[in-house]
Amino acid sequence: MRLDIFTLFPGWFDWFVTQRHVRNVVAEGSELRFIDYRETTPLGAGQVDDSPYGGGAGMVMRVDVVDAALRAAYGDSRAGRRVVLLTPSGRMFDEELASELAAEPELTLLCGRYEGVDDRVRAHLATDAVSIGRYVLAGGELAAMVVADAVLRKLPGALGHADSAMEESFSDVLEGHPEYPHYTRPASYRGWDVPEVLLSGDHERVRRWRLERSRERGGAGSSGS
Ligand code: 6GU
Repeated sequence: MRLDIFTLFPGWFDWFVTQRHVRNVVAEGSELRFIDYRETTPLGAGQVDDSPYGGGAGMVMRVDVVDAALRAAYGDSRAGRRVVLLTPSGRMFDEELASELAAEPELTLLCGRYEGVDDRVRAHLATDAVSIGRYVLAGGELAAMVVADAVLRKLPGALGHADSAMEESFSDVLEGHPEYPHYTRPASYRGWDVPEVLLSGDHERVRRWRLERSRERGGAGSSGS
């Protein structure tokens, strides 16, 4: 995958790229770029925002600044590329959207700052608007990291072994439910015992037990399929 993240704070991602699954996908040939809107702003003095038409507090990121950054990176040929604007008013991010985005060969994430982004970015430059939850962050950077984390870990070679992304929360194997509880040694700790079935060696019983626990955890927020 070629993943580009446009931001006013590329330094925020220095830590992100040191994470194991991110390093793994880069080693497998994926390309990550962090592009600073200020490098291509058509305005003077690195300006990227302006006061809102209609009045009100705060500043709004300008559409010409975002367009200039996209044009500098892609020219006029953005056709086919998924361009995702991170915004609290976007479509709620979930595992299904993560899988959808992970299938894209080229993906762009646009982070906003200030009070918001001129809505013409969403209308004319982005293909998607995505939110990571019903709360407001100071900027899209953390949201972009959440999306990038969930997407990149789905790419081949991201995780240590091939199975670990298969039977996990919200996967088809678990009927879209969250994951079952995990346990490891010791089998008993301060009187808190690991469920007996997991020590039984009976793989079919274990499989059924896990699916039941996963269903129990389904409840609110699961896809409920
Ligand atoms: Cl994508 N951006 C911001 N600024 N706040 C958010 C968000 C995104 N998703 C939830 N809150």
